[in-house]
Amino acid sequence: MYEQCECRDKKRIQKILQSSNITADFQRKTFGNFLDWSGDQRHQELHQKAYTYAKDFEEIRHREEGHSLGLVGASGSGKSHVAFAVANNLMVKKGIRVLYFNFVNGFKEMFSRYDAGSADVQRIREGLQSVEVLLIDDILKGKPDEKKGYPEISKAVYDEMYGLIEYRHFNHKPTIWTSEYYYELIPALGEATASRLFEMSKGNLGKALYTPEEMTAGEIGKLNYRLRGL
Ligand SMILES: Nc1ncnc2c1ncn2[C@@H]1O[C@H](COP(=O)(O)OP(=O)(O)OP(=O)(O)O)[C@@H](O)[C@H]1O
Ligand SMILES: [Mg+2]
Repeated sequence: MYEQCECRDKKRIQKILQSSNITADFQRKTFGNFLDWSGDQRHQELHQKAYTYAKDFEEIRHREEGHSLGLVGASGSGKSHVAFAVANNLMVKKGIRVLYFNFVNGFKEMFSRYDAGSADVQRIREGLQSVEVLLIDDILKGKPDEKKGYPEISKAVYDEMYGLIEYRHFNHKPTIWTSEYYYELIPALGEATASRLFEMSKGNLGKALYTPEEMTAGEIGKLNYRLRGL
């Protein structure tokens, strides 16, 4: 009887992993293989916020505010790694359904479905709205506008993103999100969307950003794991 239950659990977790859109490679990102390679407190903060979120998820998810997790920081600082570590932990250890959605490719793919009919788009939209935990990676990724300093998004993405975040905010649905940008999210996504994201992530916002001094001194790159040792 016990073995049967274990087997059913394994099958259920297998199904959850398969429907998460997280590839086998990224299912291997864990807190254990997130190394303290730099000794930088900012990397430690990303790890700590994400780790605590995963550990206390059952309590955090029911909070009125702060039921979500935001990770903002430099490229290569490990935002996606720790976001996947949370997602993998929730799926495997707690049997929670997570859906991965990349801000750039996800919306591209979604809008390309309009040719096949709007019912297809609505099906994707409802999937993003209703899933137990949504992981939105790379919010606002792209080439920055020279004057504004952050990428501009289309009206379609702007509106879709508002609808999605409004739904998840209104319905208290945990959302894990990452971005290279922080305050810029307000003008770029609009105050209505960005302020909901920040409110949802109150107390659970990990930051690994360069200081203005580091930016002026051209020290950019030192938070990037991909550039370590170069
Ligand atoms: N502390 C770390 N220990 C081990 N591997 C790391 C660490 N930080 C990052 N990596 C690895 O470096 C690569 C880049 O990290 P990741 O994709 O998480 O960065 P990111 O902050 O999401 O960057 P981007 O904004 O470009 O998407 C990944 O393969 C990740 O697993
Ligand atoms: Mg990333």
